[in-house]
Amino acid sequence: MGAWAGAAKIRLRRIFKQSLVTTDLAICAHNRYVGPMTEYQIVEPGSETVLRDGTIKLHGPEGFEGMRKAGRLAAMILDEIAPMVQPGVTTAAIDDKVRELTLDGGAVPATLGYRGYAHSCCISINHVVCHGIPSEKTIKDGDIVNIDVTPLLDGWHGDTSRMYLAGDVSLKARRLVDVTYECLMIGIEQAKPGNRVGDIGAAIQAYAESFRYGVVREFCGHGLGRLFHDAPEVVHAGRPGTGPLLKPGMFMTIEPMINLGKPPVKLLADGWTAVTRDKSLSAQFEHSIGITETGCEIFTTSLKGLHKPPYA
Ligand code: MF3
Ligand code: CO
Ligand code: CO
Repeated sequence: MGAWAGAAKIRLRRIFKQSLVTTDLAICAHNRYVGPMTEYQIVEPGSETVLRDGTIKLHGPEGFEGMRKAGRLAAMILDEIAPMVQPGVTTAAIDDKVRELTLDGGAVPATLGYRGYAHSCCISINHVVCHGIPSEKTIKDGDIVNIDVTPLLDGWHGDTSRMYLAGDVSLKARRLVDVTYECLMIGIEQAKPGNRVGDIGAAIQAYAESFRYGVVREFCGHGLGRLFHDAPEVVHAGRPGTGPLLKPGMFMTIEPMINLGKPPVKLLADGWTAVTRDKSLSAQFEHSIGITETGCEIFTTSLKGLHKPPYA
């Protein structure tokens, strides 16, 4: 292993340590919920300041209304940029469009200035697992592209991502994208009161591994609402019946990252870009959801039916 890889490893380990204290950036603490004992906190209407204190927040109708609006805008942004994702376009141009659509919608991109991140979305291409940084690099024919947006609207976060296919994409890559979307929806089916967070991950893992795909462990879904990244950690691989109990009023993301090859990732020297260690392709879809009395509500569903590619 070179010095560069060693440095990346140390950094990743440092981030893992931080995530024992806070659930930040959805970096999983070794694929387990390692927070304090599971505690729940009811968020009263009008309470704008919510602490990242490790408690799982339970929201009422006001929260659902806020998340519906933020989620709808997030989905609309992903709908609107679909025609732009073509060979020859720079990811910076897409980022500019995301910022424009976010501001036009009366929101701000939650990623802008978040822990030093200077962009309005993340764009992760091919073997980039997540947190790809928009740049002057152009999209190429055959690329699979994840775009992840998080408008912050009236104090609520709508966090969602989809895959896009640029030009002629191989059957192997398209199959990975399809199965990853199915992983998200299979996870969402488990999101209901009485189930546990681990039931979501277990269902996703079983399905992904039936195709011999690798489920990324280093990043996970997360509670959100007034905060961008909050408890609980929503693992995408795990054992059924483990982890925090799902209760009505919980808001969280489910955002499986599925690799054509093995699960491990490494962090590039920029401190953000996560790539598959074996350079295999990786895909991801993300929804923000709220647990209801009977199941869950998806806040970030496309209003145009653009759930997964092809979009045209
Ligand atoms: N939207 C990502 C998520 O799903 C987080 C991106 S944070 C950034 O949790 F700083 F990398 F943009
Ligand atoms: Co997220
Ligand atoms: Co996201």
